[in-house]
Amino acid sequence: MAGIGLLWMAASLLGCVSLEQLAPPIGDRMVVIGRDHGFDLNTLSHGRQVYLSRCIQCHNLEPIQRYSQAQWQAIVMEMAVEAKIDTRQTSDLLAYLLTARRVEPPDPKSHRKAAPKDKAVPQSPSS
Ligand code: HEC
Repeated sequence: MAGIGLLWMAASLLGCVSLEQLAPPIGDRMVVIGRDHGFDLNTLSHGRQVYLSRCIQCHNLEPIQRYSQAQWQAIVMEMAVEAKIDTRQTSDLLAYLLTARRVEPPDPKSHRKAAPKDKAVPQSPSS
């Protein structure tokens, strides 16, 4: 998508995007959350390694939170072909992305959370 470069530039200019945020290192929380979904530390660190070495050849990385789990599954299947990675690299990459998605980023200040869905709380008419 043509928007990626532009978004990256805008984000870099604002100085709010670092590699640590785009590809968060595997911390304790990530290990625990990964384990809950059947991904061990080796899988996660291999997945991150694939992400950092094979997915930045044609474009910059986008915030992992930007895509849903289903979107990542589709994107990774498509991009695995682009990056010419094997099935093991592909599944480890997906494991890393899905796990990183479930972990809150370390610095909440520099991460713009998706606006919570407007759940209109029914207002009781004040009397
Ligand atoms: C050979 C070049 C190439 C490599 C390597 C590559 N990509 Fe891409 N990527 C593209 C192109 C071209 C597009 C935009 C067109 C498209 O969506 O198919 C794209 C788009 C994307 C998008 C945006 C998709 C969307 O729906 O907006 C994401 C996310 C992405 N790539 C992730 C990855 C990941 C993860 C990897 C590593 C497995 C990767 N890319 C490796 C070329 C590449």
